[in-house]
Amino acid sequence: MQIQVAAKQPGNIGTDVLAFGLTGKGASSPGWRALRGLVGSNPNAMLALLGWNGKPGDFATFPAPRGARARVIAVGTLTSRGAADRSAVRKLALRVGALARTRGMAKVAFFLDSALSGADETDAMEFQALGEGLGYGGYVFDAHLGKKAEHEPASSVYAYFAGRSARQDMEKAIADGLAIADGQNRARTLVNEPANVVNPESYVEMARALAAEKGLQITVLDKAACEARNMGAFLAVGRGGGYEPHLVHLVHRPEGATTRVILVGKAVTFDSGGLCLKPAAGQAIMKMDMGGSAAVFGAIAAVADLNLPIEVHAIFAACENMTGSLAYHTGDVLTASNGKTIEVLNTDAEGRLTLADALVYAAEFKPDYIIDLATLTGACLVALGPNIAGLMGRNRGLIRALKAAGERADEPMWELPLDDEYKELLKSKIADMKNIGGRWAGAITAGLFLEEFVPDGVPWAHIDIAGPAYVENGSATRPFGGTGFPVRALIEWMRTL
Ligand code: BES
Ligand code: MN
Ligand code: ZN
Repeated sequence: MQIQVAAKQPGNIGTDVLAFGLTGKGASSPGWRALRGLVGSNPNAMLALLGWNGKPGDFATFPAPRGARARVIAVGTLTSRGAADRSAVRKLALRVGALARTRGMAKVAFFLDSALSGADETDAMEFQALGEGLGYGGYVFDAHLGKKAEHEPASSVYAYFAGRSARQDMEKAIADGLAIADGQNRARTLVNEPANVVNPESYVEMARALAAEKGLQITVLDKAACEARNMGAFLAVGRGGGYEPHLVHLVHRPEGATTRVILVGKAVTFDSGGLCLKPAAGQAIMKMDMGGSAAVFGAIAAVADLNLPIEVHAIFAACENMTGSLAYHTGDVLTASNGKTIEVLNTDAEGRLTLADALVYAAEFKPDYIIDLATLTGACLVALGPNIAGLMGRNRGLIRALKAAGERADEPMWELPLDDEYKELLKSKIADMKNIGGRWAGAITAGLFLEEFVPDGVPWAHIDIAGPAYVENGSATRPFGGTGFPVRALIEWMRTL
């Protein structure tokens, strides 16, 4: 992508899409004045006809007037809750990115009110959000369509910025945003690909290809290696599947790094429910049950592109949860790699079993932080809905930092309490614990279960992304399918370390 940040007037920019991000309707904002100058009159009435009223989320396009060197003018709203309105910039850029892709408009240009009105009202974070949105909006998943997308994503982006000295920083910020979007789009594709494409064997090859592309270290534990490590919980889940389970471990290790972060993702490439079979409707989207690992995969791709100065590990234990004569039984007692025993009272509560051994493995590397990401419970979806992830953990600083990063990245997470009394719900008569806690507080009892596999003292957080990993009914700013949630928030957080 060609990126340019400068202070040319909108009429002088040769572009396909000329996008204005305005802070309000008819305001005498610089962007509004520029737009009015271009159109030659007050565009208020026309914009209202097109559905743009200056409200947050409003977006309209119209053919550029004669005299402009653009083809299409786009108008979006930057609400001014704080000068740096990253969320609105990201959404506007997403719309423009989608427009560029579907209509074949290679060049896009942005005039953001905040960037027009002086250097101190805007910052690099808005330009990063611009890149994030543009890259995200330019994504299509057409791998299996006879009719492929006709056009490529935008290949050139211009953004107005008045402050002269910081222009290079702003260009870098856009490039960073595009790299983050690329990581996120990789995660989206992994989720969008069906379970006959992303399976516990092909997933390993995809990870090897990523490692080769980005210069990451990779270790793969095959079934025998997992057996040697006594990963009795993970392997039990994989037993019914036709593909061999594998644990994948990728590392970004820059010289001089002093902080080690381990990201662990749930990688059930298909969750049929096992013997406790899901009904057809529930199975239909269970190709997305590897969404946690997809986020981890996309995040480490972006970490490598940004060359973050910390050590980052991505770990996922990939298997499918299937039925069959070899499948684990309801009632089985499993022994995980830390020696704890688990009575399986529902084979559909499989994610926590795969994560148990992955967490034990992760902790061996003496991390400063372990974050696990998992499409773990329908209960979390019931509690928080499709847009918000459940966030759990005991380390207050870590929870606060992740929640704040999620806010800045527009990937919201809400804390659910790991109430000690609820540990009772996991008590088993014949093993150290059960794999289900009963009807109530299902997201929390899943979190409490995972905690049993994280050694004391390791700062750990669990993010249940059962809701936000996948969009069932898309909209303009929340396109259908895999979302790559929370790649942006993870990068945002890791940059604070
Ligand atoms: N993968 C599912 C959770 C899920 C449900 C993710 C809907 C995304 C959308 C998980 O493995 C599961 O089946 N959980 C069970 C747990 C129950 C048996 C304790 C659930 O949530 O019903
Ligand atoms: Mn399940
Ligand atoms: Zn599952």
